[in-house]
Amino acid sequence: MDIYERFACFYAKGAYPKYSERMAEILPAVLERFGAKPQTILDLACGEGAFARAMAKKGFQVTGVDLSPKMLQIAQERAQRENVKVEFLLQDMRSLSFEEKFDLVTCWYDSLNYLLKLEDLTRTFAGVWRALKKGDLFIFDMNTVYGLAIGWQRYPCYVQQDTYELFEIHRPIYDFEKNIATLRITGFVKEGNGWSRVEEEHKERGYSLREIRECLKEVGLLELACWGSLQEMDEPRPDSGRVWFVVRK
Ligand SMILES: C[S@@+](CC[C@H](N)C(=O)[O-])C[C@H]1O[C@@H](n2cnc3c(N)ncnc32)[C@H](O)[C@@H]1O
Repeated sequence: MDIYERFACFYAKGAYPKYSERMAEILPAVLERFGAKPQTILDLACGEGAFARAMAKKGFQVTGVDLSPKMLQIAQERAQRENVKVEFLLQDMRSLSFEEKFDLVTCWYDSLNYLLKLEDLTRTFAGVWRALKKGDLFIFDMNTVYGLAIGWQRYPCYVQQDTYELFEIHRPIYDFEKNIATLRITGFVKEGNGWSRVEEEHKERGYSLREIRECLKEVGLLELACWGSLQEMDEPRPDSGRVWFVVRK
């Protein structure tokens, strides 16, 4: 994996982790709605671990997996610094491998959009099915086609963050034939008296709700809800940039 390496420090120091911290705040109400009382959580594509730490602080036993060694290193350091116990593992979510089973699986913030092939989405859902106990939940979000093709494309170039030590520019484009958004990230990180340049190209695929549902069905995960907002728990609209699914094994 050649992304989330040098960009990892931009991600960790930027506002990005606030998103999954928010998911951790909202999640208890969602679990209550479905009468779920999990103790163990597997967080896929956990990144720098904000969600995992927040849930561990609430008393859950959390395991986080990610494909980026650098993101996992930051996750480990932050958990140690905050004196929080979380298990972080290097795993590709397309080929999850666990002996134990979990009471809840989560996956937040675009992570599933990084899977560019439909069969990779199916393989990931199949791994989730294997990792869950019967009757337990998988809750995830994804950018919609609208979100990537329209929402992301409002500005052809913008400054994402500008601090005394980091400067980050985004240039998005969308391929309507392949339904793939490409985000060219150019960053500058302060090093001594100068700045070092970082370039990464992130690709995210927009899946239709129909495609997502077909993949879920194929592996035997049952849809309980599909929302345009996790907090409001309301129906997705045609212009929803993101959708949240609650599914059950
Ligand atoms: C936008 S970040 C989200 C991180 C975290 N879930 C959060 O909410 O802050 C996307 C994450 O997906 C991870 N990722 C992408 N493809 C992956 C794969 N195939 N398996 C595991 N992790 C993956 C990246 O390394 C990155 O940490």
